[in-house]
Amino acid sequence: MKSYNIGIRLVRNADDSSNEIITAKENINPPESTNKALIVYFSWGGNTRGVAQEIQRQTEADIVELTLVEPYSTDYNTVLMEAQEDQHDQARPKLNEHIDNMEQYDTIILGYPNWWASIPMPIATFLESYDLSGKRIMPFCSHGGGRFGQSLTAIAKLAPDSEISEGLSVHYSGGSALSDDVAEWLDESGF
Ligand SMILES: Cc1cc2nc3c(=O)[nH]c(=O)nc-3n(C[C@H](O)[C@H](O)[C@H](O)COP(=O)(O)O)c2cc1C
Repeated sequence: MKSYNIGIRLVRNADDSSNEIITAKENINPPESTNKALIVYFSWGGNTRGVAQEIQRQTEADIVELTLVEPYSTDYNTVLMEAQEDQHDQARPKLNEHIDNMEQYDTIILGYPNWWASIPMPIATFLESYDLSGKRIMPFCSHGGGRFGQSLTAIAKLAPDSEISEGLSVHYSGGSALSDDVAEWLDESGF
């Protein structure tokens, strides 16, 4: 194990909203709508979920949380190892959600936590499950200091025919600046 986890463990608990686990399966198949953006995210500890919900609040876009058929451990040290193994194996963990009407969306607002300087493998499963060619991907990530790491490169490889636009990286939950940061990003992204 790298020494990485020693550095972030202490800070993470300082945010009392980050440990909240909410199951949000209600929007598995987003309804038909005139909104052409879909927010898709994976979150382990809740920080990415909080960012996704703020983006949803500001855009009113449809939103889907990706969950796993075999969820990661809820124990922090265990998930660190599981995530590292998944990344090493280039695993494609099975997702519970399937988005039937992907063709109606031209923008995917894609959120995830920075895991070992890249995407969590469920994001790879998602990207490989759909034909996203011609769509715009707007990435956002929650991180403990490493911002996007190599995750944008990983996304570009998995979605070679999509346009990856400017991303938003948020430190843990984003704190009190979250709403403004999201608004600025959406504005710069043409929303
Ligand atoms: C398995 C794992 C690996 C992580 N690796 C990194 C990393 O490489 N760089 C970083 O800045 N933060 C890393 N973190 C911290 C998370 O990115 C950070 O806590 C984020 O806010 C978690 O989002 P979530 O609450 O939506 O899961 C890691 C966290 C976990 C659980």
